[in-house]
Amino acid sequence: MQNLSWWKHAVVYQVYPRSFQDSNSDGIGDLNGIRERLDYFVELGIDALWISPIYPSPMADFGYDVADYCGIDPIFGTMTDFDRLLDEAHRRGLRVLLDFVPNHTSDQHPWFLESRSSRDNPKRDWYLWRDQPNNWQSHFGGSAWEFDNRTGQYYLHEFLKEQPDLNWRNPEVKAAMFDALRFWLRKGVDGFRVDVMWLMIKDDQFRDNPPNPAYELGMSSRARFLPVYDADRPEVHALVAEMRGVLEEFGDRVLIGEIYLPVHQLMQYYGPELRGANLPFNFQLLQCPWTADDLAGAIRDYMAHLPTGAWPNWVLGNHDKPRIASRIGPDRARAAALLLFSLPGTLTVYYGEELGLQDVPIPHDLVQDPAEKRQPGIGMGRDPERTPMPWDNSPACGFTRGTPWLPLGEVNPSLNVEQSRHDPHSMLALYRRLLQLRRAEPVLVAGALTQLSSQDGVLRFLRSDGKKRLAAVVNLAGEERSIPVEDGAIALATDLPRAGEQVHQSVVLKPAEAMVIAIHD
Ligand code: NOJ
Repeated sequence: MQNLSWWKHAVVYQVYPRSFQDSNSDGIGDLNGIRERLDYFVELGIDALWISPIYPSPMADFGYDVADYCGIDPIFGTMTDFDRLLDEAHRRGLRVLLDFVPNHTSDQHPWFLESRSSRDNPKRDWYLWRDQPNNWQSHFGGSAWEFDNRTGQYYLHEFLKEQPDLNWRNPEVKAAMFDALRFWLRKGVDGFRVDVMWLMIKDDQFRDNPPNPAYELGMSSRARFLPVYDADRPEVHALVAEMRGVLEEFGDRVLIGEIYLPVHQLMQYYGPELRGANLPFNFQLLQCPWTADDLAGAIRDYMAHLPTGAWPNWVLGNHDKPRIASRIGPDRARAAALLLFSLPGTLTVYYGEELGLQDVPIPHDLVQDPAEKRQPGIGMGRDPERTPMPWDNSPACGFTRGTPWLPLGEVNPSLNVEQSRHDPHSMLALYRRLLQLRRAEPVLVAGALTQLSSQDGVLRFLRSDGKKRLAAVVNLAGEERSIPVEDGAIALATDLPRAGEQVHQSVVLKPAEAMVIAIHD
């Protein structure tokens, strides 16, 4: 482990800053709130925080519309607050990753204000302006082109019209954005999660996307076409490699890419000779139906496509997808946690997963998310997975002394940190043990993954490194299963008291039970 870069054996924790901890009673989480909670991460055993955008922003897309890449939005605090957070995190041995949003800015960014001011403005070409729109559709619904009266042209916005797309073919854009990265790297930020990395470059001829033969009524408007010309363009890889080069000016930092693509395309983002993203986010477990067969297939597929020397990573949830405990149910979410921690490489945990939080239904009049507001009722809304972190039993659960920006809801009544901390059967207790086990057993991080199989609804695989063999077994059958195994001892089970139990030739798993078994040599 000592020879591995820090990020290879890291467990990253995603903080959605609006919802983590409010320190000034405005109902919205902030940097000082995160700082006050730093010991929580240490207690849990987390290695790194990734903080979703904290830059100045009109918040049309809650910070993913950046108006200044080198500042802090007053909602979240000041630059001094950030410096203090970074310093105190580092002093505890915690790394800090920021979210970098290169595809688009806010329409209030001074660059865009200049760009839209006249056709001959020097920044006109920093964005994508055309006389005529093509058929590209916004990820949030409707055309991706907005007509601008003042200059009589359309500009491209892959997301909201308040999020105009930058023109990364323009060298000045590249230089300005890379300087923004350097600004934070110089401060000591340990890396970046890069927003929609696969969208950064578009077809230079702006060709229409072909129709999607699988489109059905009720799907989002973007699903009408196949994203051939506005996503995953070949030129993106050179750009990612350059971005990686910027990080490398500063030593061992990490570049993580948000990429929703089929596995063989995803793997291209490691770059030729692995000079691209260190970790193109692997969303297999976010998208896979939760059956033993499907999971075995997804894990096999991912591992088989991983380029030689590339480092794997795994994710169960993020701020854009329903929470795992809601997708598969609270019991199976425990098994999912054990599965996650048994897989090789870098892991990312979404805040609240460690409590077993479920999505909170948001009443119509409290909806905040622009994705839901623009295409209501088709499941695009992301508020349910962004609700405040429950810390204790007080009103607003210790998140704020004010009115929380999203309700805490009724679905997670006894799930809060304080209560979970004192309950040995809680999800939090399971996460703490999983984190301890992963630290204690380097084979889980870096060992080979072999003997992957699914049978009768049970998923299993072996992790081995020549010194140690650990078997992971996950029962997704919906009923009890007896599984043949080599002799060993249970290192950790979702039913926590089973740890230490000896197994001889076979082991019985209850429905939704999962375990790691240390095989005797
Ligand atoms: C992906 C982010 O994760 C999502 O929250 C955001 O709305 C879009 N990119 C646009 O930046």
